[in-house]
Amino acid sequence: MSKRPASSTARAHSNIALIKYWGKRDAALNLPAVGSISITLDALYTDTRVTFVPGMARDKVEIGGRGVDAARFTRFLDLIRARTGSAQSARVESWNNFPTGAGLASSASGFAALALAGSRAAGLELSPRDLSILARQGSGSAARSVFGGFAQMHRGSTDDGLDACAEPLLEASEWPLDVVVAITEREAKKVDSSAGMSDLDTRSDYFDAWVSHSEDDLAGMRDAIAARDFSTLGELTEYSCLKMHGLMLSTRPGLLYWNAATVAAMHAVRGLREDGVPVYFTIDAGPQVKALCQPADTARVATALQQVPGVLETRTSALGPAAHLLD
Ligand code: PMV
Repeated sequence: MSKRPASSTARAHSNIALIKYWGKRDAALNLPAVGSISITLDALYTDTRVTFVPGMARDKVEIGGRGVDAARFTRFLDLIRARTGSAQSARVESWNNFPTGAGLASSASGFAALALAGSRAAGLELSPRDLSILARQGSGSAARSVFGGFAQMHRGSTDDGLDACAEPLLEASEWPLDVVVAITEREAKKVDSSAGMSDLDTRSDYFDAWVSHSEDDLAGMRDAIAARDFSTLGELTEYSCLKMHGLMLSTRPGLLYWNAATVAAMHAVRGLREDGVPVYFTIDAGPQVKALCQPADTARVATALQQVPGVLETRTSALGPAAHLLD
């Protein structure tokens, strides 16, 4: 074990999936039912400082300066403590530069930053693969935020989860793309993703079909990325997004994450396409619309989305880097 800093600070960027993950094959280890492919976003990130404090009775967690229930974070920090044999409680201070819990993947950047800062503060130097496995246990999508650019998350096949991790596909600089996020709601969503995807195999008739076709979607997207084929990437992105939301809608009770402005923004993206602008939407477990485009078209896409009734603001991001230490 290396020299042990008691405190460490890390930054991890949010990511959005082009090929979506929804559903778990093991809830305890947080093993996904399907693989996924994502892009990491430069403009949306979480900074997290973890300090192990001798003698402190329990973990304390602040997000954006406000104390939050530490239970989910304590379960995660226990995974780190189990590796070092330490029982020390930690102070976790975390800041998102975007709204938390509203479909902007704060759990992805948050748990990737916590995995890196927490493991370093505990004196561990984990490989990116081990960091991804650790981050996955906080949030499935966090496994991908360990890497920059384009990343693929493997569903894995073993029961211990040691092959359920992400790996990098391309660096951000290897294929510059932009994402314009249309924010249609600032409040946190009512049904978080873990609740939304629990027991999905028994709650949706569409689940088996979703799982059995996922490898084809992943293969198609890998080929599109390797070929830098933007229109195929975009078509597959919209397809996977709508298929996931079809699955959500087919769940009992049905999950509807969209509002009126979400739908209006989707039509605006398709309207831009009819006018010859190559742009495609994707949406996660929330009402925000993320429009994927090439840098030459970003300003036009942002202007169009700002004019959609109900869109509160837009944020533009390029592709971002891997999780890294700020110390
Ligand atoms: O990271 P989780 O377990 O909260 O799941 C997020 C799932 C989606 O964002 C809806 C899709 C994805 O692949 O990121």
